[in-house]
Amino acid sequence: MTKNYFQNLNYSMANEDTYMEYRLVQKLDAKKILTVGGSGSRALPFLAVNPEELRIVDVSPDQLLLIELKLETIKQLTRSNAISFWTSVNDQETEAIFNQLKLDDKFKPFFLFHLKNNPGIPPLYWGKWEKTFIAFSKLTRLLFGQEVREGVFLAPNPYKFYEENIKGLRWSMLLKIVGNKAMFNSLLYKGSFIKKNSALSYFDYYHGAFDRLFKLEIKKSHFLQLCLCGKVIHEEGLPIEFSEELFNKIKNSPTRPVYQQGSIFERSEDSKYDFISLSDVPSYLSGDIERNYIQLLAKNVASGGMIVNRFYLRETENTDLNGFEDVSKQYQDIISEELVQMYQVQLLRKSS
Ligand SMILES: C[S@@+](CC[C@H](N)C(=O)[O-])C[C@H]1O[C@@H](n2cnc3c(N)ncnc32)[C@H](O)[C@@H]1O
Repeated sequence: MTKNYFQNLNYSMANEDTYMEYRLVQKLDAKKILTVGGSGSRALPFLAVNPEELRIVDVSPDQLLLIELKLETIKQLTRSNAISFWTSVNDQETEAIFNQLKLDDKFKPFFLFHLKNNPGIPPLYWGKWEKTFIAFSKLTRLLFGQEVREGVFLAPNPYKFYEENIKGLRWSMLLKIVGNKAMFNSLLYKGSFIKKNSALSYFDYYHGAFDRLFKLEIKKSHFLQLCLCGKVIHEEGLPIEFSEELFNKIKNSPTRPVYQQGSIFERSEDSKYDFISLSDVPSYLSGDIERNYIQLLAKNVASGGMIVNRFYLRETENTDLNGFEDVSKQYQDIISEELVQMYQVQLLRKSS
């Protein structure tokens, strides 16, 4: 069911704030990490802790190419050049920086294909998911002036600004138009959208998530800037691998990731990971695999190791959690600061 949707380049920036997983890895002092790849923003920051092993798995070959390319830009370019590469609207500049990189031949057709198909669009926004939210921002622009959409990020109290200038009839109307299954299926998922089992209505789910988000450090939220402004307008809102601290740590990390195309639930290696980051992949599961995915991973989880789920609209049902303990409550301080706020985070610790 999810095969068609996940085979394309769907994510180029990030639709999660991986600072959450990064802080967890630091706190747990994890050394062996297995992660779903996505845009790379959810995988590359782990290099900053110099893990013994980082295995990045994705079903989509294009996502893996993008991740490898992102890492090469961090390794080979200065931070300012890397940011220019990912954010420039000038295709000649993007191509000139690409041509400076020493790369395997496999990157060229991938890069040129997307460059040609996205004239004037920086690589950071090449993913289908990013384009969907750029479309969302066009609706936002019709309903709210620039002084509101950009002003909220500069306000001394953004939540108060949101309550006074954004929250209300127009905002509710926008969330009702965009935040529903039919709209997401037509814009992005082509029928593969999640089968929601959250007790909340779509409207309450999204309204509540945005309400929590406006209370946080929104200048750092790429997601909110994408929704309101159609792009990241503050440098601190760029995905965390572009922050000065993480960029330099990733650049200097001696760890080289292992890339693997395929399903994260099909493991043949002997490694015992102490951190497994699944994104919201489990929310798309159904049937036997929805019941068994934790047990499929169990043999590759070290004792005391952690599996991190981000449920989106759907928490997995009837899943066999034997041998694992739900410790999510112990990490609420870290979870509650996540800067996308669309996910219900579940942390499972292997107890035996
Ligand atoms: C789950 S998606 C993120 C979805 C996003 N949060 C959303 O709501 O649309 C993250 C990445 O997981 C990959 N993916 C999907 N199923 C997978 C699987 N079984 N194993 C490994 N990667 C998978 C996708 O290709 C994508 O790059």
